Amino acid sequence: MTRFWHPVADMHAVQSSGELILDRGEGCQLWDAAGNRYIDSTGGLWYANVGYGRAEIADAAAAQMRKLHAYSHYGDVSSRPTTDLAERISSIAPMKDAAVFLTSGGGESIETVVKLVRRYWSLLGHPQRTTIISRERAYHGLAGFGTSIVGTEAFKVGVGPLAGGTARVAWDSANALEATIAELGAEHIAAFFCEPIIGAGGVLLPPDGYLAAVRQICRDHGILFVADEVICGYGRVGDWFACRRLGLDPDAVTFAKGITSGYVPLGGVIVGSRIQEPFWGTAGAGVWRHGYTYSGHATAAAAAHANLDVIEREDLVGRALALETEIPEALAPLLAHELVSEIRGGFGAVAAVQIDPALLADDPGLTDRVTLEARNFGVLTRTLVGGGLQISPPLVITREELDEVASGLAGALDAVAGARAS
Ligand SMILES: Cc1ncc(COP(=O)(O)O)c(C=O)c1O
Repeated sequence: MTRFWHPVADMHAVQSSGELILDRGEGCQLWDAAGNRYIDSTGGLWYANVGYGRAEIADAAAAQMRKLHAYSHYGDVSSRPTTDLAERISSIAPMKDAAVFLTSGGGESIETVVKLVRRYWSLLGHPQRTTIISRERAYHGLAGFGTSIVGTEAFKVGVGPLAGGTARVAWDSANALEATIAELGAEHIAAFFCEPIIGAGGVLLPPDGYLAAVRQICRDHGILFVADEVICGYGRVGDWFACRRLGLDPDAVTFAKGITSGYVPLGGVIVGSRIQEPFWGTAGAGVWRHGYTYSGHATAAAAAHANLDVIEREDLVGRALALETEIPEALAPLLAHELVSEIRGGFGAVAAVQIDPALLADDPGLTDRVTLEARNFGVLTRTLVGGGLQISPPLVITREELDEVASGLAGALDAVAGARAS
């Protein structure tokens, strides 16, 4: 019996089913402790952009650990890799003159940006501008504020009172945002949070023109526009950031995952000049009392540099753009399957195979059974909110490996459909 309490798990079920112990990885392939091989169709949890087994990232981290593994970066202290990383991120950011606040992951980045935008308004003399609007189906991690603004109620069950000053709008309607602003009053709203592609909430691509429209609405009302690019950032959408590709000029961008491809935990917030101004430009704002022990961790920064080197050298941003068509092409045959109602994708290396919601209504565990069965066909995937299968492979995946993913999923779908029929 394991003593490891797994994240996002039913530990009663894990006790009886046991753990899948993964042992090693190379490129897009993983092997478990029993020697079984899998193709990773999800890039871990959307993070393994450069794939597994990159010795140069391990070497960069080890070299930094031998030299100076970490030191508190509170106040005026920094280390070379950290200061250089902020400069490097700023140079590829979707807005000009950006500053970079570093954290240990996506959840801490959301905590940071909520506090940041509220503090911004407070410094400007509008302390009542606290409301954070997010979208239904949105996912912003499961820390305190993240759980408060998540767009799927299941994540809030039994948590008790959550942070106040939040509101949700339909995920796909700019008019809904406009209506909510009219109802609450722009003078109470701090920011609108928006994943360019809703990821964990089901891989929901924005309707045509939606992102440009909500960006403009925020501008018109003086509301800060925060793009949560924890999944999209660092190449996955065929550009360094979705906001760059779409020309959205956000006020702040949260990131994590792809910055190190998950080799070590790292996240952060890219902050545009409007939000920086009252903190950096004005004497008297004083210390912003926010930060984490590992904000600016030197080893994490060294690993991030090595990871970005790989992305640049192998043009994985360009590869993601090619995957934008290759992934839907490879998955297209699955659409004919009786359990599948839709294949979503076509913006970067992100897609979902949707199990028919009409079937899920009577059989809610259906997608989970396909996900488990896929392991027997050599594919690791994941069940998304709404019952889709997650497809977000390492950007190094080949067309042959994508075809292996598709045929493995077809095998799993057949096996589950067969078991339902018998
Ligand atoms: C869009 C988005 N924001 C925030 C997070 C939270 O990141 P973390 O799990 O590192 O706390 C995630 C995680 O999947 C995410 O997809």
